Amino acid sequence: MRTTVGSDNITIDVHLTTQDPAIDRAEIRNGLLSSPRVLPTKYLYDDRGSELFEQICELPEYYQTRTEFQILVTCADKIIARSDADELVELGSGAATKTRVLLDAMDRAGQLNFYVPFDVSEGIVRRVSQELVEEYAALKVHGVVGDFLSHLEHIPDGGKRLVVFLGGTIGNLDDVAGAAFLSSVNKAMELGDHFLLSVQFVTEVNRLEAAYNDSKGVTAKFNKNMISVMQEMVRADFSPDAFDHVARFNHVESRIEIFLRSNKRQAVIFQDLDLVLSLENGEEIRTEISTKYDRKRAEQLLADANFELVEWYVDSDELLGLALAKKL
Ligand code: AVJ
Repeated sequence: MRTTVGSDNITIDVHLTTQDPAIDRAEIRNGLLSSPRVLPTKYLYDDRGSELFEQICELPEYYQTRTEFQILVTCADKIIARSDADELVELGSGAATKTRVLLDAMDRAGQLNFYVPFDVSEGIVRRVSQELVEEYAALKVHGVVGDFLSHLEHIPDGGKRLVVFLGGTIGNLDDVAGAAFLSSVNKAMELGDHFLLSVQFVTEVNRLEAAYNDSKGVTAKFNKNMISVMQEMVRADFSPDAFDHVARFNHVESRIEIFLRSNKRQAVIFQDLDLVLSLENGEEIRTEISTKYDRKRAEQLLADANFELVEWYVDSDELLGLALAKKL
């Protein structure tokens, strides 16, 4: 671990270790050879992909971001009052746009002490930490650079914490990975701490599918960025033009599934994987899932991870919900 203690109330811990590239390669190879074929979603979110995702959040069809923002604006004071927190821990904090709504509410309540941004991107954690100590006079920031699927135990001890996981990102994880993630969040918390989990709800299929098939084609670009990442990472010779972006709702699993669909019969060479992948015209490789929950399913997930629901904060169209829960 690398710790930097800055002036101006900032401490940053870096826990990212460089993983053996052979493990990454094996993961990619196994995914491509499994049924259905998959590629690891995390590779969609490199610098270019994260930039494209920021653009997705601004699209008219992508209702999720503005809906969540509205719920936060309406409910932040209530959330802070119920959790009585003086420390905000944000998992996958990114640019921390929504964070400020919660920090403002803590400030109004006179209990803004600590902010802990937790993100894989060191650059983003440093930038956000600097910005926030400048914006909030008495705030102390303890940033953690790490992977929230494996480094949660490094959340620093602090005050009365509100841990938040926004964006509906839990929906990216399948049931097994989601349950493991929520349990590790629970273990990293103390009794009396609260957890705020954002989930996207099931709604009309048209609305759901439109959100992932936007008319400007930004989501298609975001998806096809996976191809560029694979070209660089494992020297894959596939061309973005040979694939179409596909996103559709899977009713059985209640989730949007995003694929790259081969638009011709082709053999793709992956030099670093010692693999030639033969694809039929129309054959698909899944790159992301985004599960849409109902309240019961979300409450069950929380209960299985030893959380007790305190309150739901939901928009009037029931598109998205923030579940406030406490550690049992
Ligand atoms: C970041 C996982 C919440 O599933 O809605 C949006 C990702 N992918 N459009 C989502 C995403 C394509 C997004 N999450």
